[in-house]
Formats: sequence, structure tokens, C-alpha cells
Amino acid sequence: MTTSRSPVTAATPPVGREVLIRRPALADAAGIHRLVVAAEALDVNSLYLYLLLCRDFSATCRVAEAAGELIGFVSAYRPPSRPDLLFIWQIAVASTHRRQGLAMRMLLDLLVATGDSPLPTLATTITDSNAASRRLFESLARRLRCELRTGRGFESNLFGTTGHEAERMFYLGPLKAGFQVTTGKEPAHGNGF
Ligand SMILES: CC(C)(COP(=O)(O)OP(=O)(O)OC[C@H]1O[C@@H](n2cnc3c(N)ncnc32)[C@H](O)[C@@H]1OP(=O)(O)O)[C@@H](O)C(=O)NCCC(=O)NCCS
Repeated sequence: MTTSRSPVTAATPPVGREVLIRRPALADAAGIHRLVVAAEALDVNSLYLYLLLCRDFSATCRVAEAAGELIGFVSAYRPPSRPDLLFIWQIAVASTHRRQGLAMRMLLDLLVATGDSPLPTLATTITDSNAASRRLFESLARRLRCELRTGRGFESNLFGTTGHEAERMFYLGPLKAGFQVTTGKEPAHGNGF
């Protein structure tokens, strides 16, 4: 239930307790790069870029670690012109650990940590062929009981001749003060536009 007075809380989806979700440190950049390469579905950025994320944007990024190994990563940032927005950039879970609630857990951890004022609307882009990513954010919208709407993202021609699929924009929110996360099994509250 969404209320403006309740504290920010999050239900933890089922994933092993031995998994640690934390802010990334510089020493994680190489492991993040490896994870993104292995995920295959993602655009691989330079290792230098991941170093910058770990150094300058760690407050809005998360890694998941199990037995000393990086098994999950999510990057996000607040666009300077839209401080009310939290843009989720890349999210990846090692293939061995998928479908166990780990991506959801990283997103919820991030949200609870950034759920201060001003509260963000979440944004991300998803290609039409990435069903797993779409399901993840649809499920997140249900848990947050917020609207999910789509908008224009990046058309494929913007990627030059790389053959990159178009990226559609997804917005979740706006989140209300003291938002609470539900189990995700209830029907969505509001269908967006
Ligand atoms: C997308 C990705 C991060 C999801 O990670 P995950 O840890 O497996 O996701 P979760 O277990 O937290 O699942 C969250 C929800 O999405 C659903 N989901 C996840 N993968 C799915 C799939 N392949 N097909 C259908 N639904 C899927 C889950 O059932 C769950 O729904 P629920 O909460 O209603 O039960 C992972 O598949 C991945 O790393 N893919 C490659 C990289 C990528 O495409 N990233 C996204 C673009 S940046």
C-alpha cells in the first residue's frame, strides 16, 4: 500500500541470504566489465567507463556478490537536467543466478537507498526483444504500485549502422513519499498511458 507517512520499506524477494548487495568500489570495475561481456545482451562499455561509475556514481549503482564473486550489477544515475528522475542504465545478473529475484533485489535496494527527497521517477530503456528486462520492470511497477508508461527512447538509426535495435523508454512512477513495496502478486495499480 502506498502512503505518504509510512517509512520506506521493501519486501525482499527470494534469493540466497549469502548474496551481498552493496555499492560498487573501484576494485569491482573489472568484474563488472566481465559480467557485462558475459551477459551478451548488453552493450559492452569500456572498463574505464565502469571505473568512472564505481568512483563517481556508486551511490546509484549496486553490485551483488556471492562467495567473493560478482554475480550482479546495476547502474543508474540522476540526469543533471532531471534530478527527479533515476535512470536505470544497465542491469545484469550472471546466467547461473537468474530467475531467483536478484535483479529485483538490487533495484529495490537502490530504491530504498535513494527514496529520499526528491523522490525519483524511474526510467529505463528496453528493446522490444528483451522480454526478461520488460518483465522485470513490469514486476517492479506492480511491487511499487506505480504507473508504468512507455515513451520514445532511442530509434535504431541513432545507433548508426550497428544494427542496434530501437530502445523504448519506460517510466515508473512518480513514487510517492514513503512508498512501500508489495509482494508483487497483487494486480497492478494503474495501467499508465
Ligand atoms: C534481465 C535480467 C537482469 C533479469 O535478472 P533476474 O535476476 O533473472 O530477474 P529476477 O529474478 O529478479 O526477476 C524479476 C521478474 O522478471 C521476471 N523474469 C526475469 N527473467 C525473465 C525471463 N527470462 N522471462 C520471463 N520473465 C522473466 C521474473 O519472473 C520476475 O517476475 P515476478 O517478480 O513477477 O516473479 C537478466 O535476465 C539478465 O542479466 N539479462 C541479460 C542482461 C539484460 O538483458 N539486461 C537488461 C537490459 S540493460
